Amino acid sequence: MKPRLGVLTSGGDCPGLNAVLRGVALAAEKLNFEVLGFLDGFEGLLPPGNFMVLDRRSTSGIMPRGGTIIGTTNRGHFVAKVGAGDRAVVAENAIEDAKRILQEHRVEALIIVGGDGSMTTALQLQEKGINCIGVPKTIDNDLEATAMTFGFDSAVAAVTDALDRLHTTATSHKRVMVLEVMGRHAGWIALHGGLAGGAHIVLIPEIPFDYDKITEALRTRETKGSIYSLVVVAEGACPRDGQAVMHKIAEGENRFGGIGSVVAAEITARSGKETRCTVLGHLQRGGAPTTLDRILGTRFGVQAVKLASERQFGSMVSYQNYQVRHVPIVDAVNRLRLVPPDSQMVQTARDVEISFGD
Ligand code: F6P
Repeated sequence: MKPRLGVLTSGGDCPGLNAVLRGVALAAEKLNFEVLGFLDGFEGLLPPGNFMVLDRRSTSGIMPRGGTIIGTTNRGHFVAKVGAGDRAVVAENAIEDAKRILQEHRVEALIIVGGDGSMTTALQLQEKGINCIGVPKTIDNDLEATAMTFGFDSAVAAVTDALDRLHTTATSHKRVMVLEVMGRHAGWIALHGGLAGGAHIVLIPEIPFDYDKITEALRTRETKGSIYSLVVVAEGACPRDGQAVMHKIAEGENRFGGIGSVVAAEITARSGKETRCTVLGHLQRGGAPTTLDRILGTRFGVQAVKLASERQFGSMVSYQNYQVRHVPIVDAVNRLRLVPPDSQMVQTARDVEISFGD
């Protein structure tokens, strides 16, 4: 009987997850493991155990597909994070159930593909004796422990495409077009997408903005003969003397979103310019992964299997200096990588006349 590995995808989905699963299945075959893919995140670990076998047949042709063929959730019994910096304790009985299911199915190690919250859960499973290997995932690209995560490049491509489309209609109507993009705590998607899509104003959580500065930037463009403008706003951006826009969805749980229309209304009120707002939302998370995300996802999946075969449990795959390496999961959780306001990237944006509204 071959030894078995389990794998699950957890938290918000993103393009590139299927590339990871295919990488896991093929690398596992090479190293003589069988792979069970647990369905719908950690929930698949609950009795009676909900899984599918991942092998070359079941993973054939999945690389170009967005989402994850084994499903995911950011809800359920294993949620260990309810906000940035928070850590909730996963119920003892849920962990014991998961442990039993893994033992019953002879799963020696569990590969957990997820973001900061899922790694916080992974850590708790590891502490209770389940062998875990982490694979970092977030379109926001805001994990300190890895220079890059798959999904980010695809999200940036979606923002760039949206800006290209908004550009033509903005020009025809001589309007200001505001595009709200994802990024609760970090503005990487807004910054990279804004730069690639030729935005004129980029508002990110790391640089609080001032409405007067936005109006000033729009006027400056006008004096230089530009009759339209593109504004990118990260969902977590907030004015210098205000708060981020979010709404309560459950006790202790808030969802970001809505800053784009607030900014659009303020621009109209202060400048008289006709302004429209588009919220890109989950279009940034859907669809086929870019080439880069397929490659990164594959590399992460293969590395996770290698780490399992080397019994490097409690470690997370990490991308550093163009190499796929690993770090202890415990060092990876709760460490967000934010856009440094004085970084070269921000300066480059300023050098091509992007205003951050500051
Ligand atoms: O963490 C990625 C992210 O895309 C955030 O930027 C966004 O706020 C959130 O997930 C939305 O998640 P969902 O709508 O799936 O709960």
